[in-house]
Amino acid sequence: MCGIVGYIGSRQAYPILIKGLKRLEYRGYDSSGIALYDSGLNVYKKKGKVSELEAFCEGKNINSTVGIGHTRWATHGVPNDVNAHPHYGQNKDITIIHNGIIENYDSIKKALSKLGHQFESDTDTEVLVHLIEEIKTQENIDLFEAVRLALNEVVGAYAIGVISQDNPDEIIVAKKGSPLVIGINEGEYFIASDASPIIEYTKEVLYLEDGEIARLCVGQELELKTIDNVVKTPYIQELEMSLESIEKGGYEHFMLKEIFEQPKSIADSFRGRLKLDTAEVKLGGIADYENKIINANKIIIIACGTSWHAGLIGEYLLEDLARIPVEVEYASEFRYRNPVITENDVVLAISQSGETADTLAAMKLAKDKGATVLAICNVVGSSIARLSDGGTYTHAGPEIGVASTKAFTAQVTVLTLMAFMFARKKGSISESYYRELITELETVPAKVESMISMNSYIEELSAKFKDAQNFLYLGRGYNFPVALEGALKLKEISYIHAEGYPAAEMKHGPIALIDENMPIVVIATKKGHYEKVVSNIQEVKARNGVVIAVVTQGDTAVKAIADYIIEIPEVAEPLTPILANIPLQLLSYHIAVMRGCNVDQPRNLAKSVTVE
Ligand code: AGP
Repeated sequence: MCGIVGYIGSRQAYPILIKGLKRLEYRGYDSSGIALYDSGLNVYKKKGKVSELEAFCEGKNINSTVGIGHTRWATHGVPNDVNAHPHYGQNKDITIIHNGIIENYDSIKKALSKLGHQFESDTDTEVLVHLIEEIKTQENIDLFEAVRLALNEVVGAYAIGVISQDNPDEIIVAKKGSPLVIGINEGEYFIASDASPIIEYTKEVLYLEDGEIARLCVGQELELKTIDNVVKTPYIQELEMSLESIEKGGYEHFMLKEIFEQPKSIADSFRGRLKLDTAEVKLGGIADYENKIINANKIIIIACGTSWHAGLIGEYLLEDLARIPVEVEYASEFRYRNPVITENDVVLAISQSGETADTLAAMKLAKDKGATVLAICNVVGSSIARLSDGGTYTHAGPEIGVASTKAFTAQVTVLTLMAFMFARKKGSISESYYRELITELETVPAKVESMISMNSYIEELSAKFKDAQNFLYLGRGYNFPVALEGALKLKEISYIHAEGYPAAEMKHGPIALIDENMPIVVIATKKGHYEKVVSNIQEVKARNGVVIAVVTQGDTAVKAIADYIIEIPEVAEPLTPILANIPLQLLSYHIAVMRGCNVDQPRNLAKSVTVE
């Protein structure tokens, strides 16, 4: 949550900050602000989107070659102009941007209040800048040292940028728990929560590690140390991201672009890993852990939201094909419920962003208990990727829309590869079935392409349901997690209440909700307990529910009883979730657009949840 940017060099900072904030708006968008220096610090901040900040800055003094900016997802204090970042210290000569939470802000605030500090906002961040200022004055030290000492007093998570009036030629940055990337170019530095605001200026980057602090000074080498005062050598690396991959490329929304990219992103997630000529599946990042996984007491998958749904499909795949026991846990529950973990367990974290606070904390807990911790991540170099003992990237490319689409199908593809690989190694499926499965996986991108060509049909269908108040999604077996994901997608971007259920559970409660106003999406593909699902559809129809059925091409039985049909190409059962998910993404997208919702930035949400 929250995005931060910064620039120092010889260019005008304002356009770089505004453009960067727009790229980071997916991380939070309830208010934004910037701080610039032109013979004094100028802070401009505004409730609402970055475009509102931009309008507010018109006619103001935006001349500056140094600046910091922030786009907020509120934690402490309602979204308004005052709580927006940057925040000043008491004397308004230091200002800060912050992504994270200072957990002990209240006790620090009380201590500072006794010393005469007065606070304007309700935020934890304002307390931190006052603390830095107090230490700087009391100890008579420079800003770098004052920030370092202040950070030794705080508990919590932070990625911060600090500038001061006394020395406007430097930005001090530090990180713990929240991401921070520094872009390095001749005579200039950029900072950001991810590389997207930096990519068009430089490819040389430094990912700050937890507990590190850096001084970025015009015309000087970057100075890096830990907050414990240990000097470090910066590890500068080259970005692989392209500018094109983070732009809309003619689509109305990032979400639609990302849905349409799936034939490619799915292919990218198995490219080089699936070799049909030798019938091999290889996942380099987990190669060293193959035996550990196969002989594991159990695999514990930890994730949140959509990634948790991918994990659930992973459980079905790994247990069905590789016969390895799997548990799937919400990271937020796992970390607080004293789980039984042993050295013989393998914990597999799944995350698009690689920054989700609960998933990170659950991984740390598993590591402390001696488990091997692996990860499936989309964002290269992210905290989760770096914390894991090993793992594999999904290679879906940057996902900007808050609602996860292509990252989900890439996660499922990677889990599918894992299940195939371990099943063969264990001999838990026949060689002929293994070969059939890997050959079918190769056909998935083309089949997804054919699903995407149904876009106009699904748009027409969406028009019929855009005013519904509730939705039910039903599926069995491999299609149960697809039902959960379909419901989550609809509720997060269209604000329609939706529930996903195992089809057979309907009789145990949700059936009471069914009437002629209730659209029910049933995933009723040929191989997944088909007859049983057909019976569930009959039960819905007997209560006048409106059925939208996702069926296998050529189906006749469901066609005869459902109100609307979406056909998907025939595919081996373990591959059904990838295909069945695509029309549900499109249905949610079109309904949300028709309801006038902001699909890329739904209310109250943020792309990466870096607070617990
Ligand atoms: C997906 O559409 C959601 N916005 C959300 O549930 C997301 O999947 C969840 O926050 C986990 O994020 P991660 O994959 O980046 O860890």
